[in-house]
Amino acid sequence: MSPHDDVEEILLDTETIASRVAELGAQLTADFGDRDPVLVSVLKGSLVFLADLIRAMEMPVSIDLMEVSSYGSGTETSGQVRILKDLSGPIEGRHVIVVEDIIDTGLTLNYLLKYLADKAPASVRIVCLLDKPARRLAEIPIDYRGFTIPDRFVIGYGLDYDERYRNLPYIGVLKPAVYAGAPPEG
Ligand code: PRP
Repeated sequence: MSPHDDVEEILLDTETIASRVAELGAQLTADFGDRDPVLVSVLKGSLVFLADLIRAMEMPVSIDLMEVSSYGSGTETSGQVRILKDLSGPIEGRHVIVVEDIIDTGLTLNYLLKYLADKAPASVRIVCLLDKPARRLAEIPIDYRGFTIPDRFVIGYGLDYDERYRNLPYIGVLKPAVYAGAPPEG
């Protein structure tokens, strides 16, 4: 029994992801070279992307981790976000780079951007690996985008279904038989 068995199709393979992450790292290095940015990543899905991205940035960086959960359930998304783990250090006056694995409705980041802005950072930029614009409810200014993807339920490279599949080394589409019934959110 392997998690690969539940993958209908590989959307982005390991090499494609690695080469795009290297490009994003090079862009961030060029743009933030001497600004000592803090990368704020949103657990858990962004973990794998963050780990690869910081190693593609040839400059001093620090990281901080937040974990949030949406109050929405089922197919209803409320836009209300609960902070499960807050920043561990101040960001006042710092250049913040928010690192996200996927932006879907945009409601999580919409909330988070206001939350971070209240802490008076010098600037806030957004890097996301996957942009799924089809379901967007809140407009998000994405500064650095890995890939734009279609409205399909994706797993792997940090992204889960029911907390599984995060360890797949590629981004794949989950077989509908796995969630039998209504497609899951995200
Ligand atoms: C995912 C992703 C974003 C959010 C995006 O997290 O990491 O934080 O959903 O969705 P939105 O644009 O519709 O708000 P998820 O809630 O699946 O938690 P996880 O990262 O722990 O898997």
